[in-house]
Amino acid sequence: MMDWTDRHCRMFHRQLSRHAWLYTEMVTTGALLHGDVARHLDFDAAEQPVALQLGGSEPAELAAAAKLGEQWGYAEINLNCGCPSERVQRGAFGACLMAEPGLVADCVRAMREAVNVPVTVKHRIGIDAIEEYGFVRDFVGTIAEAGCQTFIVHARNAILKGLSPKENREIPPLRYEVAYRLKQEFPMLEILINGGITAYAEIDSHLQHVDGVMLGREAYHNPYVLAEVDQRYYGGSEPVASRLDVELAMQRYIGDLVEAGGYMGAVTRHMLGLHRGVAGGRGWRRVLSDARRMQAVRSREQVDVLFEEARSHLRTPIREQMEEVL
Ligand SMILES: Cc1cc2nc3c(=O)[nH]c(=O)nc-3n(C[C@H](O)[C@H](O)[C@H](O)COP(=O)(O)O)c2cc1C
Repeated sequence: MMDWTDRHCRMFHRQLSRHAWLYTEMVTTGALLHGDVARHLDFDAAEQPVALQLGGSEPAELAAAAKLGEQWGYAEINLNCGCPSERVQRGAFGACLMAEPGLVADCVRAMREAVNVPVTVKHRIGIDAIEEYGFVRDFVGTIAEAGCQTFIVHARNAILKGLSPKENREIPPLRYEVAYRLKQEFPMLEILINGGITAYAEIDSHLQHVDGVMLGREAYHNPYVLAEVDQRYYGGSEPVASRLDVELAMQRYIGDLVEAGGYMGAVTRHMLGLHRGVAGGRGWRRVLSDARRMQAVRSREQVDVLFEEARSHLRTPIREQMEEVL
């Protein structure tokens, strides 16, 4: 997710689940082929498995960008066919590509020839007023013929004119049954569903119909929802990480970053939902969102002091856990 799922965010989410597949923000081919590659692609191996999402519509450029992604170590290359923003439309990629399945197939073919890791596609179920199932069926069918095995279906239309990207994540109604029907029609393909999913009961019910579930905003705003994913869906036998486990791991990570000259707030901004719903969570959040204080932090010790202060707001039970750890 643009501006959200950067490497610090992914490192945080990785503390919550060892196995959930994590995605980068969309990176355009232009940014990769003419910009600072390391700035866009650098990540820590501890974040794996990570998929690189690309935005573009020119097969040779996408192939070159996918190759870079593979060289950098990404475990999957995903093509964005779901973003409705005007900027993306001007570049003629994102959701407007759903109107050009032949071109998307050429892009997928070129990317698959360039890399060995899986090439996947994220898309909507229609664009503008097109609600016929046949539209998305033909889109998926054409791209599957080009060798794409995995489709992530954001189960609502994209409205290309008149709605902002934010409205496009809320206003067009969710029609999960379209994704279910795709799975029925293409049982050999891996179909993942996305859009408005917030609870395990919903995930379990979707998994009766499709192969996987992608969480966007809920995972970001309420990250602790990820903590049970390994046990529930990956057969993980390790105990579920506590909020404190996660926080202490990130505190060490932030200590390293700060000692290397980085800014603490670049990480804590993704963590602010960790204690959502916990008594004292607001006070914790206030300390770790105070940019002025975080800008003054230069050493690991200062990081520890701020986290300590943040934790002092938590009434139960993290204080007690802390006493056990120390
Ligand atoms: C701030 C923000 C940025 C997003 N950026 C991307 C993106 O770069 N690529 C993408 O495929 N989807 C992007 N999305 C859409 C989400 O991946 C997801 O499809 C959408 O939010 C619906 O899922 P959810 O209800 O679980 O959030 C973004 C969503 C948000 C809120």
